[in-house]
Amino acid sequence: MDASVKACQSALADLEANDKLIAHEVDQLKSFYLGKKSQISQQYQSLAKLPPEDKKSQGKALNDVRMALNALIQEGYARAEKIAVNKLLGKGVDITAASKVRKPGSLHPLTIAYQEMVAILQTMGFVIESGPHIEDDYHNFTALNFPEDHPARTMHDTFYLKDSERLLRTHTSTVQVHILNRQEPPLRIATPGRVYRCDHDPTHSPMFNQLECLVVEPGCNFSQLKWLLLKFCEAYLGKPLDYRFRPSFFPFTEPSAELDIVWGDKWLELAGCGMVHPNVLSEAGIDTETFQGFAFGIGIDRLAMMKYGINDLRVLYENHVEFLEQF
Ligand code: DAH
Repeated sequence: MDASVKACQSALADLEANDKLIAHEVDQLKSFYLGKKSQISQQYQSLAKLPPEDKKSQGKALNDVRMALNALIQEGYARAEKIAVNKLLGKGVDITAASKVRKPGSLHPLTIAYQEMVAILQTMGFVIESGPHIEDDYHNFTALNFPEDHPARTMHDTFYLKDSERLLRTHTSTVQVHILNRQEPPLRIATPGRVYRCDHDPTHSPMFNQLECLVVEPGCNFSQLKWLLLKFCEAYLGKPLDYRFRPSFFPFTEPSAELDIVWGDKWLELAGCGMVHPNVLSEAGIDTETFQGFAFGIGIDRLAMMKYGINDLRVLYENHVEFLEQF
């Protein structure tokens, strides 16, 4: 028998005699006798240098040794386990009792969606930005060209703080205002985040996630906006889409449109978009002769619903384990 097989056998016997036959010790023997730096591995490497007639016989001899070592090691693990179980039984431990091991957690579906969307936008040259969730009237409305008492404010009915001056932002368009005031165009930013509205039904939740994209570059135009928005949605959903662009109204864009996508037997509204209104740009001191802008705001939750085939958006926030486990 090969010397290494004998040595391995006696090492295992020693461990057992010294009451040390445990899995960890067997691991060490395994790496010593069979690991990358073991003698047998080196012998395998030098096989290449042998003349072909010796290669075959030497190769077979090495294989026999490796199989013998492997069998010893496996036997070692089995013995170690038996010994460990016997020790536990000796202590009166009930090894049939249910395990208390906790299952590892996983990312929330919305986090997965968010990460995938951000990755796509980064390949399109967007820089990711964020803004505050508590806003004032100026950032949520006025700077975005919502005149005071304009009916367009109504659908943004939201949660005001006690001082009645500040509110939870109703859309991520507020971040446009922060960015335009602190960065010089040209710029291309994307800002995902939570927004808040007094809404609650299968396709609305009082808190939901939007993703806002803003491009301000000389000469950018509506067809670029249309192409980009659609390509983004198709890249995320992974298939060509049945869509329509529908004329709409937002105070901060002109012209404005909404993107709808076929969802079962109806249209689901997915995003608002348009060319940034010159009033918004000039409010931030940007020369509207040189720069044009386009923007869109899309529902992260809605897109995720479509990708995962979820009918009721609210399940994304209820966090039942049976639901979350599916991701
Ligand atoms: N902020 C709008 C909303 O929440 C969505 C939106 C529409 C965002 C048009 C945009 C846009 O950037 O250009 O209803």
